[in-house]
Amino acid sequence: MSKIRIEGQHVLSGEIKIGGAKNSAVALLPASVLCNGKSQIYNTPEITDIDYLIKIMELLNCKVEHKDGTLYIDTSKIENKPIPEELSVQMRASYYFMGALLAKFGRVEMSFPGGCNIGARPIDIHIKGFEELGAKVEIIKNRYIITADKLVGKKIYFDFPSVGATINIMLAATGAEGTTIIENAAMEPEIVNVASFLINMGIKVTGAGTKRIEIEGTKETTDAFVEVFPDRIETGTFIILGALIGKNLKIKGIIKTHIEALLLKLDEIGIKYKIENDTMTISKCNNISPTYLKTLTYPGFPTDLQQPMTTLLTQANGKSIIEETLYENRFKNTYDLNRMGAITNILTLNKLEIKGPKKLKGTNVIATDLRGGASLLIAGLIAEGITEIDNCDVIFRGYSDLKAKLTSIGAKIEITE
Ligand code: EPU
Repeated sequence: MSKIRIEGQHVLSGEIKIGGAKNSAVALLPASVLCNGKSQIYNTPEITDIDYLIKIMELLNCKVEHKDGTLYIDTSKIENKPIPEELSVQMRASYYFMGALLAKFGRVEMSFPGGCNIGARPIDIHIKGFEELGAKVEIIKNRYIITADKLVGKKIYFDFPSVGATINIMLAATGAEGTTIIENAAMEPEIVNVASFLINMGIKVTGAGTKRIEIEGTKETTDAFVEVFPDRIETGTFIILGALIGKNLKIKGIIKTHIEALLLKLDEIGIKYKIENDTMTISKCNNISPTYLKTLTYPGFPTDLQQPMTTLLTQANGKSIIEETLYENRFKNTYDLNRMGAITNILTLNKLEIKGPKKLKGTNVIATDLRGGASLLIAGLIAEGITEIDNCDVIFRGYSDLKAKLTSIGAKIEITE
């Protein structure tokens, strides 16, 4: 298990470039099985979730090379095989093989997906969607067996706009006869990214990024390519760092529309920044106002930035409240934040109070989940003294080249085994 050791309070300046979005890339790689030949995915981040997905692709007899940020994929000899637990539990996104393999072969067998322990995370909306397209879903021990002689497109309404279910049903619908319409679809940018790959393969998809997506099934796909969008959560994480300890920190790879909710919140609490083309310049803000923040589905404030934002609000002048509406167990980072000197109280299952400003002091902490780990990393970078983060492999699941990027802008961090 690796450990990150941080010497805090070094000012961050210079320029960093945001990597490709984890949550796009982890869907695009499974989607590539829908190609009948070769595909390329540009700007793919070097993160452990991608390493495990490549292992699944290799198990399915696909060739994947990850070179200089591009995935070169050859699915021409693909074989349908059960995906075992030791691979499926390594990440949430293994479930995208359900939709993709169901569309391609009419059958998929895989163990339960994994992912951060931040709540119950059921996949009932995915399963209901597969069934509505005509698939039979069985759960035997801890394995899903999903089969369909024929998938038939239809109109499907989601009770909740789930990101994963939207992408999974889009993938499955490519193998269905006729048109599938998803009503109350999720609108996150990652869905647009996946749709653009499918369109590039020759599949007709319209409406991605809105509440109504239409997919016309076809197995006649071509070779294809796609570029992964910059990661809006990594972007937000570095923006938060810039607001806390930056000096003219330049963050390159900004897509303003993808981070609008964060930018408006920063405006509200008095954080100044400048955006020119795709680059933001940001410096430490000495007068942060407290706020009320509620996580929502896109275009609302992203839950994945809630924990990094908690660290920011420990430095605000007064009491902030965070309401987490997506996950019921996403405040675990606050235990260690408090050990570092923050004052946070969990008021109810989904409401957190943060009393600022509080000086943070380095100590030994544990990353319990990816974004919780990021919130401790930010805390360590602004704290006095040394912070050691244990179990930091969970952070590498979502942030590529972390040490190199942070070191290049002046942070003092070491990673040890
Ligand atoms: N939900 C259900 N039933 C379902 C699906 C979802 O009840 O069938 C609930 C979940 O339990 C959760 C909410 O709906 O409370 C949102 O779930 P969603 O399906 O939208 O999320 P996801 O697809 O599991 C993706 C990201 C998460 C991110 C969420 C929300 C990936 C691999 N993961 O998860 O990313 O928090 O969307 O934006 O794309 C992260 O990067 O740290 C991370 C957790």
